[in-house]
Amino acid sequence: MSKKVDIDWGNLGFSYIKTDYRYISTWKDGKWDEGKLVTDNKLTISEGSPALHYGQQCFEGLKAYRTKTGEIQLFRPDQNAKRMNESNKRLLMPEIPEEKFIDAVKQVVRANEAYVPPYGTGATLYIRPLMIGVGDSIGVSPAKEYLFCVFCMPVGPYFKGGMAPVNFIVSDYDRAAPHGTGAAKVGGNYAASLYPHELAAKSGFADCIYLDPATHTKIEEVGAANFFGITKDNVFVTPKSPSILPSITKYSLLYLAKEYLHMQVAERDVFINNLDEFKEAGACGTAAVITPIGGIFYNGALHVFHSETEVGPVTKKLYDTLYGIQFGDVEAPAGWIVKV
Ligand code: PLP
Ligand code: COI
Repeated sequence: MSKKVDIDWGNLGFSYIKTDYRYISTWKDGKWDEGKLVTDNKLTISEGSPALHYGQQCFEGLKAYRTKTGEIQLFRPDQNAKRMNESNKRLLMPEIPEEKFIDAVKQVVRANEAYVPPYGTGATLYIRPLMIGVGDSIGVSPAKEYLFCVFCMPVGPYFKGGMAPVNFIVSDYDRAAPHGTGAAKVGGNYAASLYPHELAAKSGFADCIYLDPATHTKIEEVGAANFFGITKDNVFVTPKSPSILPSITKYSLLYLAKEYLHMQVAERDVFINNLDEFKEAGACGTAAVITPIGGIFYNGALHVFHSETEVGPVTKKLYDTLYGIQFGDVEAPAGWIVKV
């Protein structure tokens, strides 16, 4: 690595840092172009772009990890490619070939190698692929041209404190409709979450918990992360619903809990009035990794799980296993790690 960057790796938050290169590819007349790395972080697009008016866009989030030996690796990027294509289908956008997606991610990571945080700092390189519908247009119809971009930046913990418990409040608002776009990673869901998040933050909570939009009785998501709970008889439980984002971290934890920690696992309804069934709870996601949930505020009272200050033992074991795999210290299931 030739270039050195002046970054305080141990004190990074989750904020934008401009790195040197990003990838951009255009879809036009039914096909993707070659794609290339560019240095300019600004996009010039038509004022008529459907992404700007009607939200025809989607994105992904994944990370690159520096191992003890200095290598760089990705965690399940094929799953991000597949999920992006599910979002693309939902919004009538063109699919991106899986190999093109992974190749673009690798190119961006390699070109910005100096920004991949050193092993042991806990920081990672966050990678943000996105697709937008562009071109001169005004009617509510799919765009005729698309941009697929990938950029990256070094990040620290998403929730303040990282692996320290934080409290959440149940929102009266919904981030998605029962048969809407909740399972797709589209910007509209996040636009809808800004106001409820602001209300939660103003009341001193890390974020809000969304209940199922049809009945408001079951937990769906924890802000921009999925929910999991550990029952008193040690079952790893995570909500099942067509309106939550199919989290890659969540599916990885379901597998690791079963195969590595020999726990029983279940994807099923999680009723908000039955939080007592859990001895521990957490939020999981690429950005959130595993964030222990101290308590959930609902109906005027804070329900505390394991502790508001200490991490529960099962959550800790899950974290160590996942984190160990991502940074190359624990052997990964076949196909989960892709070297850059
Ligand atoms: N739920 C929402 C709404 C998210 O934005 C994310 C982040 O990607 C997740 C869950 C976690 O998904 P993943 O584990 O694939 O990052
Ligand atoms: C992620 O975990 O990658 C996310 O997309 C969450 C958030 C930053 C939107």
